[in-house]
Amino acid sequence: MSESTPAIILDCDPGHDDVVAIVAAARHTDLLGITTVAGNAPLDRTTYNARVMRDLLGLEVEVHSGAAGPLVVAPAFAGYVHGESGLDGAELPEPTTPLDGTDAARFIVDTIHARPGCHLVVTGPMTNIALALVQDPSIRDDLAGISFMGGGTFGNRTPTAEFNIWADPHAARVVVDSGIPLIMAGLDVTHQFQATSDRIDRVRAIGGPLATVLSDLFTFFSANYRERHDDLEGAAVHDPLAVLALTHPSLFSVAERFVAVVDSGELTRGMTVVDRRTLVDRPTPNCRVLETVDAPAAWDVIVEAIAAARG
Ligand code: RIB
Ligand code: CA
Repeated sequence: MSESTPAIILDCDPGHDDVVAIVAAARHTDLLGITTVAGNAPLDRTTYNARVMRDLLGLEVEVHSGAAGPLVVAPAFAGYVHGESGLDGAELPEPTTPLDGTDAARFIVDTIHARPGCHLVVTGPMTNIALALVQDPSIRDDLAGISFMGGGTFGNRTPTAEFNIWADPHAARVVVDSGIPLIMAGLDVTHQFQATSDRIDRVRAIGGPLATVLSDLFTFFSANYRERHDDLEGAAVHDPLAVLALTHPSLFSVAERFVAVVDSGELTRGMTVVDRRTLVDRPTPNCRVLETVDAPAAWDVIVEAIAAARG
């Protein structure tokens, strides 16, 4: 079981790997709410997909939609990875539970003040988080920290920028510069956690509607990754690591680093600059950066969470 059961709000852009983050959060956290943002797909799709997962998991948790686009740059989506629906590859049941609200930033502010000591887990562009911080900077006082999937010492949307940070670099800069304790699950660690064929087979063998949907989604996601990369055996399942960083910290090695976000530049927009120098006068770290993950053990956690959700 988990080493800790943190109270969290999950802000996401489902997205194949966001779905796995929801499964992990449902099993191992006190999930206070799910908020959605445009990213992998437009907001209406990411919100629909979050509602599908809520019903498929039988969760009694609110879903609030948020920002349909970034603070400054033009909206950009990732249909080239996740398909136009944001969750291509599986037959998804129509959601029946209605959306609970359309002001994610307000929900985030109110929930943090209602549950001091909770965490934000962010697995999409950070627009909602930046809007919440602008709306009420005092959430810093009640928030234990932010665990986010994003960034890295290399990119995927560009040579230097990972998609979540690139999609809204100004929001990411607001969050990373906020002074709130941060945990970063960047591409350096998430590329170690791949949905290989044997791992997908383990999920399918669980049986039942959830495992069928998830193994179909993994199959689509991994085929896309294998087609677009010459060094990956399966899709990097990025987002659940931002959850497991809180619930299963012993799965990771971590380094305290100073991290900054570059919000502009033809080649640098969305770059996270991770200071790994060993100089004694290096900048004070603002982020716990996940460096390695015990991938087999982490996959065991995901498989158990899916089996447990099967009911
Ligand atoms: O770069 C990977 C990240 O972008 C993941 O969160 C994925 O879901 C997309 O949002
Ligand atoms: Ca995501």
